[in-house]
Amino acid sequence: MILNPLAPQPSPDTTAWRVYHDRHRALWIDHFDGRWLVQTEGERLPSDFVEAASRLCSSLYWRPRDKAAATAPIHLAGEIIAGRFSVQETGVSCWMDFAAGYSCGLFTDQRLNRIWVSEQCRPGNRILNTFAYTGAFSLVAARAGAETTTVDLSSVYLDWTWENFALNGLDRTGHHGARGDVFTWLRTFARQGRTFHGIVLDPPTFSRSGRDTFRTDRNYASLVSLAAAVLAPGGWLLCCANTHRLTADRFAHDVADGIRAAGRRIIRQEAPPMPPEFCGDDYLKTLRLHVE
Ligand SMILES: C[S@@+](CC[C@H](N)C(=O)[O-])C[C@H]1O[C@@H](n2cnc3c(N)ncnc32)[C@H](O)[C@@H]1O
Repeated sequence: MILNPLAPQPSPDTTAWRVYHDRHRALWIDHFDGRWLVQTEGERLPSDFVEAASRLCSSLYWRPRDKAAATAPIHLAGEIIAGRFSVQETGVSCWMDFAAGYSCGLFTDQRLNRIWVSEQCRPGNRILNTFAYTGAFSLVAARAGAETTTVDLSSVYLDWTWENFALNGLDRTGHHGARGDVFTWLRTFARQGRTFHGIVLDPPTFSRSGRDTFRTDRNYASLVSLAAAVLAPGGWLLCCANTHRLTADRFAHDVADGIRAAGRRIIRQEAPPMPPEFCGDDYLKTLRLHVE
């Protein structure tokens, strides 16, 4: 049976999670409230896959990873999904759209980091969510009573963030959107003397920033140093790097360099593994820091 083992639902109020993860077979499946999104490397699915998988979900879609940026997933079996639908992760709702391209609304690999962020937030805290995509980190911070600032290049994703706020019945008072480049915004916040009690850094592997380019495996320290300059004393930083090209040691080294360059000091840090349903894969590096 090619679909064995399937990851169990992580909690009763979670309807979106990685149900199958096999880096060696290059086959990944996310479960979105009964619908499955399958990703593969290359353009072939195992021969008996569709028949086996379609018995386990209401709707089966497929996206070869190399085409992921440009194309929506292809319908393979079951119900055709027309338009958006919502999913839940630890009780927080999020709109999904299989036709949206790039990704569909929620990165399931950040589930445990979102739980951690919600645990760090206190009512009245100011939280900065950079490279925010559809604002999932802002949602958990807002639900915990924090004020949020959500930064993304894309107005489509900022609008999606506010639609997710509405879906969760969250009032937008005290929540701000900043469209544009994260690096530019971090410099602006520093000039304005604005500080944050917690900052989420989850950049893409590669990004253009004005005339500069940012690569997670080369320029992470400079991003951390800009963020540390606007972090309140005793605040926390969630640093993520989504790449196999960076070892965990090298990532920790880059983050420490960035903190030092800002004249700050790490009080404590942890480097948790990815959620268990990712079967020991380690492409997503995480460092959770508290900074003096
Ligand atoms: C990998 S996604 C982030 C996922 C998000 N942190 C989450 O957990 O849902 C990358 C996001 O960064 C945004 N982005 C890329 N380069 C950027 C830049 N230089 N400044 C601001 N946003 C950027 C993209 O528009 C995209 O929404």
